[in-house]
Amino acid sequence: GAAELGPYRHYMQKEIFEQPKAIADTLDGVPGISPELFGDGAYRVFKEIDRVLILACGTSYYAGSTARYWLESVAGIPTTVEIASEYRYRDSVPDPRTLVVTISQSGETADTLAALKHARSLGMKHTLTICNVATSAMVRECELAYVTRAGVEIGVASTKAFTTQLVGLYLLTLALAQVKGRLTDEQEAEELKALRHLPMALQAVLALEPQVIAWSEDFSRKENALFLGRGLHYPIALEGALKLKEISYIHAEAYPAGELKHGPLALVTEQMPVVTVAPNDALLEKLKSNMQEVRARAGQLYVFADADTHIASEPGVHVIRMPEHYGRLSPILHVVPLQLLAYHVACARGTDVDKPRNLAKSVTVE
Ligand code: G6P
Repeated sequence: GAAELGPYRHYMQKEIFEQPKAIADTLDGVPGISPELFGDGAYRVFKEIDRVLILACGTSYYAGSTARYWLESVAGIPTTVEIASEYRYRDSVPDPRTLVVTISQSGETADTLAALKHARSLGMKHTLTICNVATSAMVRECELAYVTRAGVEIGVASTKAFTTQLVGLYLLTLALAQVKGRLTDEQEAEELKALRHLPMALQAVLALEPQVIAWSEDFSRKENALFLGRGLHYPIALEGALKLKEISYIHAEAYPAGELKHGPLALVTEQMPVVTVAPNDALLEKLKSNMQEVRARAGQLYVFADADTHIASEPGVHVIRMPEHYGRLSPILHVVPLQLLAYHVACARGTDVDKPRNLAKSVTVE
């Protein structure tokens, strides 16, 4: 009801603004990094496995896609991520030394549950879930679990569940790294410090809302949009495009920026908004040249640029400046303005933000 919404217009907006608290709650009671965060016996399981297979749907799949970068670079564990409805029906080559990780807000998504059972039937007995509902089928079915504490999410388009899933997946990455001898005590302390500072860092990002609102009117008249990111932020571009199409009904596609020249560049005209996720990371110079390719075709860039990227506003280049680069945890910050953009564009178009047409919060049938 209206009382629950407080100052917010929709549950989605409220849930976007609840993210600092959702993350703080998810980290609450995490004294340090250890396999036991995922349940009894996790140490033995983590010792035994040497691969990770992530299975999920929708936004949860993009959380998994982000985690793949972490698991490979921090924990050094070969990781594949697969859409649950694909995995369950294809012939694949099982490896018993795999940790099967499902990600699900609800813990009841039919395809994800079926994919889990399929993996198990192929002989992969080690299973772990990152899930927001402690009493769900997914938590019951899996050997190990990390229950995020996003609280109840009402908006069909997932927001706080996504960022808390990322936190859970980062903890999993660190715990696996520790067991594999790739995390010193000093590194652990630094990582924990960065995690615990996330709620504050998120507050600073949420304060950018007025700037996002200023873009939304213009944006709401578009019928297409491209989202670009690279590396760790490519899944964030995918998630931004998903949010926009789900609730504003603007057709949106995301591409890894280096792949622009292999197709989507043909779509770029002065009519095409190109949302760019621009963290100040090792790929920045590459990304800048991709932005040039867009500008050369008169595409309109809407850039979320970290401080110190030296990306400045100019005709055709709209810039919202993000706080300092947040290292590996940067995707957790960069997704937030994309959520806000989708939300305010949808509001400008007058759609039913919390209940977009044809979509359900939890898909418990195939
Ligand atoms: C539906 C929801 C999405 C969600 C997806 C997976 O499509 O609308 O927001 O990402 O299901 O749901 P799960 O509960 O498994 O994360």
